[in-house]
Amino acid sequence: MSVKKPTVLSLSILTVVFIIDAAAIVSAKSDPSIFKRYCSVCHSVEEGKNKFGPSLANIVGRHSASIDNFGYSEPMKRLGVIWTLENLDRYLTSPAEMVPGTQMAFPGVKNRDERKALIDYLADPGG
Ligand code: HEC
Repeated sequence: MSVKKPTVLSLSILTVVFIIDAAAIVSAKSDPSIFKRYCSVCHSVEEGKNKFGPSLANIVGRHSASIDNFGYSEPMKRLGVIWTLENLDRYLTSPAEMVPGTQMAFPGVKNRDERKALIDYLADPGG
């Protein structure tokens, strides 16, 4: 009797921990909430919709500074990269470090998992 009670209790704690874990794995896949929290003040993922920053529609695979009707900074115009997953990861870790003088006044997403979930989302905002 005195042994049974704690066993039941620890089993239900295990279950709760497992459920929280599973949720964390799912949301680390492609998470729009990170985009909303950090980026959507300045960016849209809709094609042709520039805000303070350029539209990020189809950003993965796009050439840097390639939105015609957006006024990029000189350093961004000179960058000359394709926004691969790796380059996005580098830029979003610390924009001013990869592109000194960038007009994007944002310190970066320092958490690796958040960055990955964000980039997964940018790669496929619809799904
Ligand atoms: C304070 C406004 C602001 C925030 C917040 C912001 N950006 Fe930007 N972003 C800009 C501006 C402005 C530019 C253009 C930079 C330049 O020309 O130097 C830019 C440029 C970019 C580019 C390069 C686009 C291209 O066409 O080459 C990417 C990629 C990008 N931002 C992603 C993001 C992501 C992802 C977030 C959220 C983590 C974010 N930005 C947050 C303003 C912002």
